[in-house]
Amino acid sequence: MFTRFRRKRIHPVLRDLLQETHLSVNDFIYPLFAKSGVGIKEEVGSMPGVFQMSIDEIVKECDDLKQLGLNAIILFGIPDTKDSVGSDAMCEHGIIAQTVRAVKAAHPEMFVVTDLCFCEYTDHGHCGVLDPVLHTVDNDITLDNLARQAVVHAKAGVDMIAPSGMMDGMITAIRAGLDNAGFINLPIMSYSTKFASAYYGPFRDVAESSPSFGDRKSYQMNPANRNEAIAESVEDEKEGADILMVKPALAYLDIVRDVKNNSTLPLAVYNVSGEYAMLKMAGRAGVIDYDKVMMETLLAFKRAGADIIITYHAKEAALLLQK
Ligand code: PBG
Ligand code: ZN
Repeated sequence: MFTRFRRKRIHPVLRDLLQETHLSVNDFIYPLFAKSGVGIKEEVGSMPGVFQMSIDEIVKECDDLKQLGLNAIILFGIPDTKDSVGSDAMCEHGIIAQTVRAVKAAHPEMFVVTDLCFCEYTDHGHCGVLDPVLHTVDNDITLDNLARQAVVHAKAGVDMIAPSGMMDGMITAIRAGLDNAGFINLPIMSYSTKFASAYYGPFRDVAESSPSFGDRKSYQMNPANRNEAIAESVEDEKEGADILMVKPALAYLDIVRDVKNNSTLPLAVYNVSGEYAMLKMAGRAGVIDYDKVMMETLLAFKRAGADIIITYHAKEAALLLQK
């Protein structure tokens, strides 16, 4: 009988000894959505278990996260007022700056990351300042604003910034802005390979960030492109990114592996809102075993090459990992 593979799968302890990839709570960054007010915690219909929260609720939430062993969050802001440039994002009294200060004051050991973009803050919902003639985002004016936004977050006490707008040259501009302001030790995790994906649908409900016209195809990547996906991340490494990212994750595991093989930088994946919602809805419908499919999915990200997983599943996964 030929049992070259199967003889090593019979004893469960040997199976564990031979497991090549492992998940841990240290792999996760948990996304949180901040808005103004007090005592607000509103669930979003398309993403059960995900909430818009006022700052006091976010501070409380961090207690829960610590109990679960989760030590890293990424913050998104829902401002009171939006305008053509996204001023709230560049203001030290803006929603994100306030949230960062509150979280760091109450939980100094929590590793706080901020998403750096403008789509939640502009009245048109695009990721930067619009060019009046081309009706697309003006790359270079947006770069200046990204550098401003980065310095505002840095002064508020953030531990890492994560620019997600897919502007050309964004890492060079942000690094220079941070260094000039004295924040030479603040790391940048770039959304370096980010596709124009329909999987972001539910996020745009939570973050109230849908574009009011058109789409993001003039700055986010075409899902069909593999060479360009590698080139985008390699470029951000050259510009000084400290950590790279592929987003979305699940339908792009080939790209995760490609980027991993083309850079020695640590790699993050963003397990996006649509991916989360699909599992949630299928689990609720009784179509899949939600916990098992979730853990299998998260493990697959690591096997594909991810060092960090940004995921709405982080709390549920952390609970399962405790068992
Ligand atoms: C902002 C941003 C988006 C996401 C993260 N940062 C939305 C977008 O690009 O439209 C998506 C996250 C998710 O779907 O969970 N640029
Ligand atoms: Zn954006």
